[in-house]
Amino acid sequence: MERDHERKARLAALAGDQEHIRQAPVLLVWTADLARLRGLAAQRGAQLDGADFLESSFVAFLDAGLAAQNAVTAAESLGLGTVYIGAIRNNPEQVTAELSLPPGVFAVVGLVVRIPDPSEDARVKPRLPQAVVLHEETYDATGEAEHIGEYETRVAAFYAEQTLAHSWIGRVLDRLGSSAALEGRDRLRDHLTAQGFPLR
Ligand SMILES: Cc1cc2nc3c(=O)[nH]c(=O)nc-3n(C[C@H](O)[C@H](O)[C@H](O)COP(=O)(O)O)c2cc1C
Repeated sequence: MERDHERKARLAALAGDQEHIRQAPVLLVWTADLARLRGLAAQRGAQLDGADFLESSFVAFLDAGLAAQNAVTAAESLGLGTVYIGAIRNNPEQVTAELSLPPGVFAVVGLVVRIPDPSEDARVKPRLPQAVVLHEETYDATGEAEHIGEYETRVAAFYAEQTLAHSWIGRVLDRLGSSAALEGRDRLRDHLTAQGFPLR
């Protein structure tokens, strides 16, 4: 396995200039890969029209996410800490070039892995109450506003401890407030089309 820290530093710069990427010994990049099947089809002169549909890209993105989450579980079982890096999609053309990704391969998400620093006062952020995210039989948002209000108060205490400025509602709304807030990811469809994911 390559261990090119200069490359990792360049990827850190492309992915929101995040210091924890530079510092961590390992950055894993999880890819959606349609190229392998296209290669197999080309070798056999077989059609592969289904690969051009959104469905196939969706499966490839989902597979990458599932694999990454399994790696998180495995890493945590070994006492390692991880941070997902969605910002790997901020500059998809440069990341594609940096990783020499061929057409049909896309960097879905990054994952920083390192030994946690026990002196860091790391906490698990409180999660939305289960009543908001778990629906039995059919989707039912009854009582959602109340549960979210309660959560907003509970998470405010956590954010205050972590010296973060916003409420949870403020944070999630800001994140999707404008195309600029997507930090370059608003161009993702164009990149995917150019990179061999036609999303039909
Ligand atoms: C898909 C995904 C992408 C993420 N991308 C980043 C990232 O680029 N940089 C980072 O520091 N943390 C990233 N995180 C980790 C979040 O910062 C972390 O989960 C945090 O607890 C989320 O808190 P929030 O919902 O209040 O923003 C990501 C998490 C997920 C699930």
